[in-house]
Amino acid sequence: MDNVSNVPQHVAIILDGNGRWAKAKGMPRSYGHVQGGKVLEDILVDADDIGIRYLTVYAFSTENWNRPADEISALMGLLKNYLKTSIKKCMKNNVRCRVIGDKSGLSEELQEAIAKMEEATAGNTGLTFTIAINYGGRDEITRAVKKVAAKVESGELKASEITEKMIADNLDTFDMPDPDLLIRTCNEQRISNYLLWQCAYTEFYFTPVAWPDFNREELLKAVEAYGNRTRKFGGLKT
Ligand code: IPE
Ligand code: IPE
Ligand code: MG
Repeated sequence: MDNVSNVPQHVAIILDGNGRWAKAKGMPRSYGHVQGGKVLEDILVDADDIGIRYLTVYAFSTENWNRPADEISALMGLLKNYLKTSIKKCMKNNVRCRVIGDKSGLSEELQEAIAKMEEATAGNTGLTFTIAINYGGRDEITRAVKKVAAKVESGELKASEITEKMIADNLDTFDMPDPDLLIRTCNEQRISNYLLWQCAYTEFYFTPVAWPDFNREELLKAVEAYGNRTRKFGGLKT
């Protein structure tokens, strides 16, 4: 265990730069995604070791369907394999793995792999590892609003009775705390439709390191930077 104080309970990561990393090596983008998948397997164990309780990673956005078909199928294939092969690692490390996003937009095969991974690891009590696939914050909020609106339509609820908690309870992350720290790799400094509702008061950390080069040391740097910050929630500093 590393000697870090004030460890964030929930860390979200926008893993970015797989394509640029591969290109810089004269390799196809898919090579970057393969390497990025390996990093993801290791970072699980590191996050748990550091004392992080929730790790939520962005693997495929609702906007990533705009990429070329061959890249999409390479990514989907990798995700399916990843879910199958990392069950062992999750079981060994007591990790509960789940997927957020609109699963209905994914292939049946991928949906099955997700269900198997979620079922197999449901009883684990260590790190909660969440993978966002076909995930968009706006889509998630829209789906939540539809569920609440259905209750209004059926007469179960009045529009004036809708609360923030009702929206939050209908998000894919209903049973998780909001992220304390959001990390984005490879020099990009935007949120790209990730956890829009949940990141209302999250601390952001940006690094030039591309995701395939990310490792325990980089994670520790981000966690240490977080540890030196003062969280604020609109009030006065305590
Ligand atoms: C992140 O790397 C992985 C996904 C978005 C699926 P990118 O594929 O976005 O790589 P860059 O940003 O083009 O380098
Ligand atoms: C965000 O990365 C989505 C994922 C990491 C899955 P992108 O590379 O798709 O985002 P933009 O297009 O640069 O904002
Ligand atoms: Mg990118």
